[in-house]
Amino acid sequence: MTVSYKDLGLSNSREMFKKAMEGGYAIPGYNFNNMEQLQAIVIGCAKSGSPVILQVSKGARDYANSILLRHMAMGAVEMVRKDYNSNIPIVLHLDHGDSFETCKACIDSGFSSVMIDGSALSFEDNIAETKKVVEYAHARDVSVEGELGVLAGIEDEVSHEVSHYTRPEEVEEFVKRTGVDSLAISIGTSHGAYKFKVKPGEEPPPLRFDILEEVEKRIPGFPIVLHGASSVMPEYVELINKYGGALEGAVGVPEYQLRKAAKSAVCKINIDSDGRLVVTAKIREVLATKPKEFDPRKYLGPAREELEKLIIHKNENVLGSAGRA
Ligand code: G3H
Ligand code: 13P
Ligand code: ZN
Repeated sequence: MTVSYKDLGLSNSREMFKKAMEGGYAIPGYNFNNMEQLQAIVIGCAKSGSPVILQVSKGARDYANSILLRHMAMGAVEMVRKDYNSNIPIVLHLDHGDSFETCKACIDSGFSSVMIDGSALSFEDNIAETKKVVEYAHARDVSVEGELGVLAGIEDEVSHEVSHYTRPEEVEEFVKRTGVDSLAISIGTSHGAYKFKVKPGEEPPPLRFDILEEVEKRIPGFPIVLHGASSVMPEYVELINKYGGALEGAVGVPEYQLRKAAKSAVCKINIDSDGRLVVTAKIREVLATKPKEFDPRKYLGPAREELEKLIIHKNENVLGSAGRA
């Protein structure tokens, strides 16, 4: 049985990106794997009046079950509409879809947007796979995000990293031939909590805004996506380490750089690791300071509360999406 996102109260991302481009802000792409993360994200976005893209990775589908995830998203929509009296647009998006088949399965089960991540393929194979997804998705009014360039890994040699930045001379042809609705590019961000190797107190290197500007020149007004955009906020890393964690040297993208990107053609900013750090920090704190506690609600509850605060902070001060729903 196939399900359309339109029957679930979800939106695709087309209108969101149009408004974000005109308004000089970015839509948040927040990942979730469980109920507490989903609640914190949608309630935080409802309270700050922000449109939101709920992201589900392949790992999340394996972890939580794709049928359950769809019903959770449906429940989240109904909850914010009824209990929070909020009409914020909500997108359900497949993050880093690895094949046409995964994208199709998500579209058929009610996703309103999918990413086909062909960034590891050759240029021609990436175009072919992305185009195939676009044809299937657009016939159902579902948005598609493609990717060009590979996000740098901290283990890479510098020369290797440079060769993986998005090549601006490729973007126009890619967008034209595939018909994608948005494009993820690589300008120096990376996934996870260890994005840069810097000495204590040193600033991480700036993102490659020169590449972003070159891309914008070639596809003016086209929505750009930034992955790997967590800031790895030091207060949560410190809290984790204070209560038994070992995250030495974790560094992310400074928030002022993301704010700058959000004012440009960057219309979507993906944040997952920051949420993971907040949740882990609060759970560690409760378990360490209240050793007699064994009710999951007593440590998942404070984690959820802190995550909601983080979502509101990001929407208001980093993405600029607060009040734009
Ligand atoms: O881009 C990756 C996201 O942070 C999702 O991570 O594959 O561990 O769920 P995951
Ligand atoms: P972070 O690991 O920086 O949060 O990136 C998340 C992401 O890009 C999800 O697709
Ligand atoms: Zn990503």
